[in-house]
Amino acid sequence: MPIQSVILSTGSYLPEKIMTNSDLEKIVDTTDAWITQRSGIQSRHIAADDESTADLAIAAAKDAMERGNIDPLSIDGVIVATTTPDQTFPSVAVKVQAALGLPVGLAFDVQAVCTGFVYALATANNFIIAGQAKRILVVGAEKMSSIVDWTDRTTCVLFADGAGAVVLDAQEAESNGNRGVLSTHLYANGTMRDLLYTNGGPSSTGDAGHIIMHGREVFKYAVTYMADAVNEALAANDVAAADIDWLVPHQANIRIIEATAKKLDMDINKVVVTVDHHGNTSAASIPLALHEAVADGRIQQGQLVLLEAMGGGLTWGSALVRF
Ligand code: UT7
Repeated sequence: MPIQSVILSTGSYLPEKIMTNSDLEKIVDTTDAWITQRSGIQSRHIAADDESTADLAIAAAKDAMERGNIDPLSIDGVIVATTTPDQTFPSVAVKVQAALGLPVGLAFDVQAVCTGFVYALATANNFIIAGQAKRILVVGAEKMSSIVDWTDRTTCVLFADGAGAVVLDAQEAESNGNRGVLSTHLYANGTMRDLLYTNGGPSSTGDAGHIIMHGREVFKYAVTYMADAVNEALAANDVAAADIDWLVPHQANIRIIEATAKKLDMDINKVVVTVDHHGNTSAASIPLALHEAVADGRIQQGQLVLLEAMGGGLTWGSALVRF
């Protein structure tokens, strides 16, 4: 019997502190009008100094476990997508495992920047369909404020902090209405790594460095690659864009989201948008948006949900899920 990875529950955590565009006007030479018009962002959450990525990941994971009423002892894997781990090692994933009292099992971080959650979901799905795990906690968590140069107005107005989580469960496709992850497609093109990167790292400068982004070029590739990833998912599953109930894109810029929806001829009302109040939370953006739409009742069991992302690397990818 074919096994599929069903999303049992979702959860999220956003730091208490909200930073508005007018707060940013006091830090760098920018305006609320510029940030709103160019990115669609109005406010974002910023972690406290003593709040780490693992703290955010643990809170989101706990939320998903509680909402699904899931027995911690049933979890045999943790995969965390993050670009901003607390330490070079150990992983954020082992901290989540320990904090939630999960049993010994696989635990590791995945680093694919803004595409990280799609990479982590695909990896977890592959463990499950290979029969090597039964229930995996997949988390996207970022403290992007820790690698932003707060004097660089071209990036500091965009990135933000938060975490989202899902619990994936191995189920027999035939007995569950064909729910679960139906396909994943992952890509990277390392020749374009200099479009978006940090100017540091453990084996080069010895510190994490700050984000450098050639925004205009990244924008151009973002629309093309995200639309390609979506089209590939549709073709692989023999479904039309009109069959998709919800598109949950990476939340980098409202103009990228709208342009992608237009290119795919998808109704913008079927697109989950959180960029206005979350900003760009990198690997956390998709699970945060997914959870928001599940929690407010938009996304219902049995619906077709398409996740897609693009980020540094450049990396991009998609996942089609029957929720
Ligand atoms: O999440 C991973 C993937 N990342 C993305 O997908 C981000 C993709 N890129 C973008 O979202 C957009 O390119 C940005 C929002 C980053 C920038 O928007 P843009 O329309 O591409 O603006 P631009 O970079 O072409 O800059 C236009 C002008 C420049 O001034 P000049 O050269 O025209 O005089 C910038 O210096 O806006 C200026 N500018 C700002 N002005 C006020 C740049 N940042 C700011 C700012 N406030 N914060």
